[in-house]
Amino acid sequence: MADDGQKNMPVCQKKGELAPFAGALPPSRDTISDLLCRELIAAAEKMMGRAYAPYSGFQVGAALLAAGAGKKVYTGCNIENAAFTPGICAERTAFAKAVSEGEREFTAIAVIGGKKGIPVDYTAPCGVCRQVMAEFCDPRKFYIILARSQEDYWLYRLDELFPMGFSPKNLA
Ligand code: THU
Repeated sequence: MADDGQKNMPVCQKKGELAPFAGALPPSRDTISDLLCRELIAAAEKMMGRAYAPYSGFQVGAALLAAGAGKKVYTGCNIENAAFTPGICAERTAFAKAVSEGEREFTAIAVIGGKKGIPVDYTAPCGVCRQVMAEFCDPRKFYIILARSQEDYWLYRLDELFPMGFSPKNLA
């Protein structure tokens, strides 16, 4: 397993060399508790039922934990549109709700989805959602929970799912 020393190494060691696979965090790292993950998954599961997805039929729910004093959870679902491009993912719905309430820092997000709200596979955030996460979250400290149920999930860190992203740091 990669220790912290290895994680500090550049993703690509040699020109032309493939970066090592960014795998899920091993459970032993115990970064956020199983209880917290389950709570967030439960909130995300509920939101799948609120999805407005008449075109894809793919319902997604997300639950975003804010790092502020209140440690509030902001939920979201995907909201599709007849013109297609105005549609928004569950994750960004949650971010929009949280940021518009004054939150700027976040700890974790749980995502769950599937056709007709039945999670067959893990639903990983799309590229646009990962970019939005990188706007507000420290990639080394923000956790992404990909769930099929409260008992069945993988825990990732944003830097694993969004390596070498463009972020506010580039403009600083
Ligand atoms: N979707 C999300 O809401 N989040 C994801 O992580 C992946 C995709 C939505 C967008 C669209 O409404 C539907 O799922 C099918 O792509």
